[in-house]
Amino acid sequence: MGGRESRPASEPAPAEPIPPTPVKIKLGDFAIDEYRPIKVIVIGAGFSGILAGIRFPQKIPNVDLTIYEKSAGFGGTWYNNRYPGVACDIPAHCYQFSFEDKRDWSSFYAPGHEIQQHLQDVVDKYKVMRYIKLRHEMVHARYDEATCKWHVRIRRPKAGCETEFEEFEDVADVFLTAFGALSRWKWPDIPGREDFKGEVYHTAQFDPEGGSWEQVAGGWKDKKVGVIGSGSSAIQTVAAVHPKVSKLVTYVRGQTWIAVPFAGETFSELLGRNTVPQDGELVFTPEEIERFKTDPEHFKRFRRTMESLVNSMHSYTVRGSQLSADLQDEFRKKMKTQLAQKPWIAERLIPTFPVSCRRLTPGPGYLEALCADNTDFVTSPIKRFTASGIETEDGQQQDLDIILCATGYDVSWQLPFDIIGRNGVALNEKWKPYPTSYLGMCVDEFPNMFTVLGPNSLIGAGVLIPIIEAAVDYVVQATAKMQRERLKSIEVKVDAVRDFDQYIESYFPQTVFSDKCRSWYKLGKDEGRIVGLWPGSNLHALRALQHPRWEDYDYSRADDVSNRLYWLGDGQTHNERTSTGDRAWYLGEEFVDRPPVPEE
Ligand SMILES: Cc1cc2nc3c(=O)[nH]c(=O)nc-3n(C[C@H](O)[C@H](O)[C@H](O)COP(=O)(O)OP(=O)(O)OC[C@H]3O[C@@H](n4cnc5c(N)ncnc54)[C@H](O)[C@@H]3O)c2cc1C
Ligand SMILES: NC(=O)c1ccc[n+]([C@@H]2O[C@H](COP(=O)([O-])OP(=O)(O)OC[C@H]3O[C@@H](n4cnc5c(N)ncnc54)[C@H](OP(=O)(O)O)[C@@H]3O)[C@@H](O)[C@H]2O)c1
Repeated sequence: MGGRESRPASEPAPAEPIPPTPVKIKLGDFAIDEYRPIKVIVIGAGFSGILAGIRFPQKIPNVDLTIYEKSAGFGGTWYNNRYPGVACDIPAHCYQFSFEDKRDWSSFYAPGHEIQQHLQDVVDKYKVMRYIKLRHEMVHARYDEATCKWHVRIRRPKAGCETEFEEFEDVADVFLTAFGALSRWKWPDIPGREDFKGEVYHTAQFDPEGGSWEQVAGGWKDKKVGVIGSGSSAIQTVAAVHPKVSKLVTYVRGQTWIAVPFAGETFSELLGRNTVPQDGELVFTPEEIERFKTDPEHFKRFRRTMESLVNSMHSYTVRGSQLSADLQDEFRKKMKTQLAQKPWIAERLIPTFPVSCRRLTPGPGYLEALCADNTDFVTSPIKRFTASGIETEDGQQQDLDIILCATGYDVSWQLPFDIIGRNGVALNEKWKPYPTSYLGMCVDEFPNMFTVLGPNSLIGAGVLIPIIEAAVDYVVQATAKMQRERLKSIEVKVDAVRDFDQYIESYFPQTVFSDKCRSWYKLGKDEGRIVGLWPGSNLHALRALQHPRWEDYDYSRADDVSNRLYWLGDGQTHNERTSTGDRAWYLGEEFVDRPPVPEE
């Protein structure tokens, strides 16, 4: 027979385990979901800030949200940039939030004002204006270690007086900077700008004053216009301006790739066109727009197919790959063909660096504009602005009526305001010689502060808006955690920042971004640390941000208790404690996670 052997009667009975002395705590006198009020300050009302204005009220109960925007309007990039030709550089159907489906884009690369109008519609629809304060500029922010709150100083015009300003301080539990990576525009470092007697604009500051750039440029037919630069802004400006002016002089010191039309065959196939579109055929016909509007499945198919294709560009960014080489050959061929009338331009303009080393722009109409009879292509470096135009190093003086500086942004990540973290550390000091972060989202010694599209969070290829959505969602999750678990502070660990740093250093050498070319990806330099881009594809970024690693953070508790589960409260939920509300809320359709029924 099996079974246990019985203990001989002579053996003493084993001692009963001594129960541990129970340690009791004072339970919190609150329900587990009795969420404390939480104040969130957001800086900037572009795509990122507007989304914060949708997601925080949606997902954080008891949130007190303020979005400060220094401009007189929201929209960020799309409010500020109204220069001739400003347009989207990816298919516009993909340049919107995942939960929106604007269908009446006029063109594949929609003009900037349509994107701005769309953001206006989004702000109206979700009533985000309740949270936005325009003409409110953040000038200083400081973390107070005693209270674990951010003290944010804001400058605004005095009531009834546009030219005098006052400052006040607002205080927040969570501080979200969404002030843009490409929002601090800068004049070129060319002497003599004040001497020029004509009109001079930076593209990001060009203001058609309530009208459109087309209306303003409509009065330029007798004008000689200079455009400085060959980045994305210049490429669009040159293409838009040259048919409107008597003479165009474009000053190009660097090189740039101009992309072949994107996904032309798929575009035609989806729209039922017979031919692959050339640059000028990217405008949708009224019938095509009507079909998008009336046939949601057609719209979805178009958007999803295009978005998937844009998101398939990552493989071209692998340095030395066959794909990268093939792309270069294709682009070179197209550029040479389109510049056949002026082959010397091809020699100067076609890059020695790979495609995508700097931001690629589709540039419809740019090469045609360079070949036009009324365009001069000047490569001699600019010496100075003069009273009547621009003088170049080769001694040539060109008289101009209007100069458009498409000369880019301050991309140094040295911010024009102080952000002071724990231990009095200034962010600008911490970010010398280059900015570091954890997943582009936060920095050690700056608790309760997060960033959307901070350093190392934009992308060189692929759709950007999903990254903005993932980043905002990340901050919302962190805020929810603080609120739920009654945390006073959350701060990323220094070694987590170090580990991301090592990832960045190891990832980029294998990409075309590390080749020699001047770009905002590298602090505006032609070599060195990549600070602009996420180290990976955009889809990779989405996966990385989807599930925060909370173990990479340190926390402090709002209550002076040692038990980490104090936030469990009194064992009830708010609805039970107050005998109110729905006590079967989890059956609400929004909470039920219906599993698919497996097929046979
Ligand atoms: C001309 C241009 C064209 C672009 N085109 C494309 C494109 O086609 N496709 C694409 O994917 N990306 C494009 N980009 C990148 C574009 O910036 C992002 O797609 C996106 O619009 C960024 O949104 P954001 O809200 O993060 O930043 P932004 O749009 O830059 O908004 C930041 C906001 O913060 C405000 N702000 C800054 N400092 C302060 C302060 N101290 N206090 C208060 N407010 C402040 C600014 O005024 C601005 O409104 C373009 C960028 C530029 C400059
Ligand atoms: N939707 C779009 O298509 C679109 C439009 C605009 C901007 N953007 C985004 O914004 C980013 C910035 O674009 P951007 O064109 O505004 O800026 P940018 O890419 O930095 O280009 C600035 C241009 O100005 C030139 N430049 C600067 N100082 C100069 C000087 N002193 N003399 C002569 N030339 C000078 C630069 O020359 P070098 O070439 O020698 O550097 C460069 O060609 C883009 O990369 C893109 O991500 C997108």
